[in-house]
Amino acid sequence: MEKLEVFFVVVVLAFLGLFLYLLAYGNVIGYTTPAACAIFPEVETFKPSVEEIEPGVYRVKVVAAQYYFLPAEIKLQNPKRVIFEILSKDVVHGFAIEGTNVNLMVFPRYVAIFVWEVPQDMKGTFLIYCNEYCGTGHQTMYGHLIIER
Ligand code: CUA
Repeated sequence: MEKLEVFFVVVVLAFLGLFLYLLAYGNVIGYTTPAACAIFPEVETFKPSVEEIEPGVYRVKVVAAQYYFLPAEIKLQNPKRVIFEILSKDVVHGFAIEGTNVNLMVFPRYVAIFVWEVPQDMKGTFLIYCNEYCGTGHQTMYGHLIIER
């Protein structure tokens, strides 16, 4: 009888240990690796750029830092699709474009990647803004997207 009690105490403790491990794994290790991001250890080699890789398809690389986007103005001719690659140099920033579904959280020293299918009737100038509080100059962190057709 006593042996059976010991057996069940061991089983319960083993499950408790497993749950605590999974909790710690999910919250510490899992949380520090953002989804849909690429590790980018060499921040210095990341060059901001706007590049048309095929007709209507752009790759736009943006650096986000306290308190600016580089480039601050992105001008696109007749875009169909935009591949955004956004790198934060310092703290958590946001990269959002008004009136669109572009809304990224950018983790320090990671590249956030988003493929945006541009609505074909969209043209004009749109505000790009940081929507994560990133310090005392947060409200000055913005840029513009200009779409010409
Ligand atoms: Cu960057 Cu707020």
